[in-house]
Amino acid sequence: MFITLEGPEGSGKSSQLPELALWLRQQGFQVHTTREPGGTEISDQIRAILGDLANTAMKPRTEILLFLAARAQLVEEVMRPLLLTNTIILCDRYADSTLAYQGYGHGVPLDTLRQLLDFATGGLQPDLTILFDLDVEIGLNRRKNSGGEWNRLDAYALAFHQRVRKGYLALAAEEPQRWKIVNADQPFNKVQLDLRQVLAKTLSLSNPV
Ligand code: TYD
Repeated sequence: MFITLEGPEGSGKSSQLPELALWLRQQGFQVHTTREPGGTEISDQIRAILGDLANTAMKPRTEILLFLAARAQLVEEVMRPLLLTNTIILCDRYADSTLAYQGYGHGVPLDTLRQLLDFATGGLQPDLTILFDLDVEIGLNRRKNSGGEWNRLDAYALAFHQRVRKGYLALAAEEPQRWKIVNADQPFNKVQLDLRQVLAKTLSLSNPV
């Protein structure tokens, strides 16, 4: 099963993911965690180019193609082989990030992006996508205060991030059977419990406490 976590900056995906994976393993599942862009040696090299503050000359088309190149490698090298085994893949960001950030955020036509995504992934779609939803300003402030990675990609205006959030909500509304929305503006443990409840339902487990 292929599960993706999506959400705006500072929504807490990356800190919730390891705990969620641990809990799934305790339930007896085989779990592989990964993140985008990244997850293979080649994809991590592409991530470094994308995140490099010195790359101010990078054009929007270049950026899109680099995200897609990183994803194509991850899908073929890691995801497809793992999905043939009985493994749950938990991925921090995937194709919906491209639709939300490059599409809704930067205004690249969604149908163009969807064609490119289809080529890059060979049509691999998540079985479940969890949206970490929260007010954009709260997320950006969390990011700044945590002292985490604050790179070139974070430097866009607030309005951009607001379009990204709206985009996510629109994508979720389009495909409600694939998306589940979790309120990310809650204490860490409550968000974790909500996530476990979503997964328990999807995997037909008894409710977690
Ligand atoms: P990262 O530091 O991993 O941020 P986060 O912890 O919020 O996931 O950086 C990933 C950045 O790349 C983030 O700003 C979202 C952006 N991004 C895109 O714009 N398009 C994409 O397709 C992907 C995968 C990420």
